Amino acid sequence: MKKVLLVLVTIFLSGCFGTGNGEKNSEKNIELGKITFKKNCAICHGKAAQGLVADWKTPINGKYPAPPLNGTAHGWHHSPKLLLSTINAGGVRFGGTMPGFQNQLSAAEKQAILDYLFSLWPAEIQQKYSSRFK
Ligand code: HEC
Repeated sequence: MKKVLLVLVTIFLSGCFGTGNGEKNSEKNIELGKITFKKNCAICHGKAAQGLVADWKTPINGKYPAPPLNGTAHGWHHSPKLLLSTINAGGVRFGGTMPGFQNQLSAAEKQAILDYLFSLWPAEIQQKYSSRFK
C-alpha cells in the first residue's frame, strides 16, 4: 500500500498528467534527481528548489543569493544545455558563488536533476519550455 502511494505521489509530482513528458522523465529518474538535488543543491537552493531568500534579485554583500529553481525565477528561460553547463561550471565564471559539479556528479545524476526540476514547474511553464527546447 505504501509503495502504491509513493508511486502515485511521484507520478503527481512529476507532472505526468497531460504534459506528454511522462515517458522521457521516468518517475525513477525524477526520484534520483530529487535525492541528488537534496544532497548537493538544497543547502543553497532550498529543499524543494524554492530558494532560501525572499528576494533573490538583490545581492547580499555584492553576491547574488541562489535563485529558486522551481519555475518562479529565471531557470526555465535557459535551455537544458545552458542549465547543464551552469551545473557543471558553477557561477564563479560570471562572478557568482555557485560551485561547479563537473566531476562531483555523473551525467545521469545531472540529467536526473534537470528532469526533477522540470517536474516542479507549473504545467504552463513546462509546456512553454517543451515547445521552446525539446
Ligand atoms: C554554495 C551554494 C550553491 C550550491 C551548493 C548550488 N548552487 Fe546553484 N546557484 C547558486 C548561486 C549563488 C547561483 C546564482 C549564480 C551564482 O552566483 O553563481 C546559482 C545558480 C544556479 C543556476 C542558474 C539559475 C538561473 O536562473 O540561471 C542553476 C541551474 C543552478 N544554480 C543549479 C544548481 C544545482 C543543480 C545544484 C546542485 C547540483 C546547485 N545549483 C548547487 C548557489 C549554489
